[in-house]
Amino acid sequence: MKAVDDLTLEEAQAELARLASDLAAANTAYHRDDAPTITDADYDALKARNLAIEVRYPELKRTDSPTDAVGAAPSEAFGKVRHEIRMLSLGNAFEDEEVAEFESRIRKYLGHTGDLAFTAEPKIDGLSLSLRYEDGVLVRAATRGDGETGEDVTANARTIGDIPHTVTGAPPVMEVRGEVYMSHADFEALNLRQAERGGRTFANPRNAAAGSLRQLDPAITAERPLRFFAYAWGEVSEPLAETQWGVMERFREMGFDVNPFTKLCRGTEEMLTHYRMIEQQRATLGYDIDGVVYKVNDLALQRRLGFRAATPRWAVAHKFPAQLAWTRLLGIDIQVGRTGALSPVARLQPVTVGGVVVQNATLHNEDYIAGRDSRGGTIRDGKDIRVGDWVQIYRAGDVIPKIADVDIAKRPEDAEPFRFPDHCPQCGSVALREEGDAVRRCTGGLICPAQAVERLRHFVSRDAFDIEGLGAKQVEAFHRDGWIRHPADIFLLEERYGTGLQQVKNREGWGAKSAEKLFAAIRARKRIELNRLIFALGIRHVGETSAQLLARHYSTWDAFEGAMTRARIGEGAEWEELIAIDGVGAVMAESVITTFANPAEREAIDALTRHLDVQPVQHRVAMGSPVAGKTVVFTGSLEKMSRAEAKARAEALGAKVSGSVSAKTDLVVAGPGAGSKAKQAESLGVEMIDEGAWLAMIGDA
Ligand code: IVH
Repeated sequence: MKAVDDLTLEEAQAELARLASDLAAANTAYHRDDAPTITDADYDALKARNLAIEVRYPELKRTDSPTDAVGAAPSEAFGKVRHEIRMLSLGNAFEDEEVAEFESRIRKYLGHTGDLAFTAEPKIDGLSLSLRYEDGVLVRAATRGDGETGEDVTANARTIGDIPHTVTGAPPVMEVRGEVYMSHADFEALNLRQAERGGRTFANPRNAAAGSLRQLDPAITAERPLRFFAYAWGEVSEPLAETQWGVMERFREMGFDVNPFTKLCRGTEEMLTHYRMIEQQRATLGYDIDGVVYKVNDLALQRRLGFRAATPRWAVAHKFPAQLAWTRLLGIDIQVGRTGALSPVARLQPVTVGGVVVQNATLHNEDYIAGRDSRGGTIRDGKDIRVGDWVQIYRAGDVIPKIADVDIAKRPEDAEPFRFPDHCPQCGSVALREEGDAVRRCTGGLICPAQAVERLRHFVSRDAFDIEGLGAKQVEAFHRDGWIRHPADIFLLEERYGTGLQQVKNREGWGAKSAEKLFAAIRARKRIELNRLIFALGIRHVGETSAQLLARHYSTWDAFEGAMTRARIGEGAEWEELIAIDGVGAVMAESVITTFANPAEREAIDALTRHLDVQPVQHRVAMGSPVAGKTVVFTGSLEKMSRAEAKARAEALGAKVSGSVSAKTDLVVAGPGAGSKAKQAESLGVEMIDEGAWLAMIGDA
């Protein structure tokens, strides 16, 4: 084999292509088929060679580079478990002020001025696990997965010493949730053993814990020294206690490990003191933690606070500060995103930052590279970033690495200011920067292959169509083969290529069986929820939460599509209705309308929806809710609860909450100081009640 330094550009490119396909095949054999075709040592050697070539020729790094592949076992290997109560993640805080804001946000939401206690405990850097006990017996253990559906790892969990197989004093149904992790000492011993056996070694304890828990053979898990801390719960048939602290006590009594650094704090000051104490202990704990979690102690208040889209309002993770390292900037690549945004990416000399090898970092946009912020001010004291520079890399938790600083003294003499391209590097179309936008965008739209691929990746992503067996990698490959250009093509794959697909894919280790499985998964996804469809369209400014707002408001695809087709920007009933949705602003409204008005976009949307059976939104109607399906407007000040809580409660009861009064409004809840909205309601003859009457109506007086 030729030394990496002696490879010509062409040879390097050819070898990277070969390595990508060999490693992908090895991954499939290992993870999906549980039948490795090469030894772990050979696998590691191939990966190392691939990385070395990429470092030598960063410009040749492939979009499907094995370096970026996550070697996690695909979920088909395990049975699926639906979590009755979703497994959520946590919002983050980095600065002390954000912790103070967390407390004040809660107080404001609850309208609470008295004592407010929180628990504070280490945030364990492992992976979360949900344990279901029925009549005191462990019956099921499941990973978090996407929060709604996880993997069944019961047999593996039973091999973990910290997890009791039976518990006494538990309610008939009890789901205990917590973190599986590996200690530093066990991690090092495991890696040593693996290396001696020629097995695969792990990058960090978290990976080792994840890899060990998700073993197909429980006997292997049993050999791996995993541990478990309990810190939360899912479904319980009876309340376990009245406070977070009380539940932790019960868990401890039942034989679970609860982190000994858990403390009850009365407010921000005590939380911050405990945070600093834990931060000081961090290096000597013997296991990885990446912050401190604060939780409202009173469970009645936790219930009132509830959740945002994916995180609870009653808890926050206070992360430890970012980690830093210096390295060289080898090049700047321009990636083209789904909406045509040209994003500069720094290619770095690989460097370890806080235990993780970093070789790419985001550079945001051209102003950022030039040392300017969006308001014309300076960043990094106005120092620009040039290829060849020494740059300081910054990593905070799982956030994408960023460049914090540049060492001008070490700048090579011939380093030139970076010239940001004014044409799309993928399709050659003009790239424009609209006034007030920090981002330059390719104007190629659907003709730009990069945009098309990114849209497809988005289309199949987890919160969009989430088609099993058709992830970002596969959809990219199909696009490369010319088989899928637009989302609608996905649903024509079987009809057009059926047996052909099986044959071609055969060569790459795809059996007829996996093709059949893929077709079945695609067929199943023809039935799709409205919010997923709206999100999948990839409209600028419409994220997952906005898609949900739109879906909830319009309820059916026909209603949504009809309204967007008729809507005109800035005028008319459809426009008014759209921007009256709480959470929808003019920018988003404009973007949606523009998309539907664009002939090419429109054609792609129509071609897609012809294949679909879009499920209308089932408004979760609480039994006998008097406000289900009604459009409610809150105005003036409320005394018993904040506006945000009132809105969340109304929505939970099946009402639509709107920000403005129109003929479609069913009910206005007016507090003291109500102004123009109350007048509007009066003139339209809309029913108007006060807060007390509202609470009586929803049975909460
Ligand atoms: S509470 C509804 N407490 O961090 C909130 N999570 O970023 C339930 N984690 O998915 C989570 N230590 O895997 C909680 N003491 C702790 C934790 C913790 C680690 C993990 C957990 C969660 C993730 C959120």
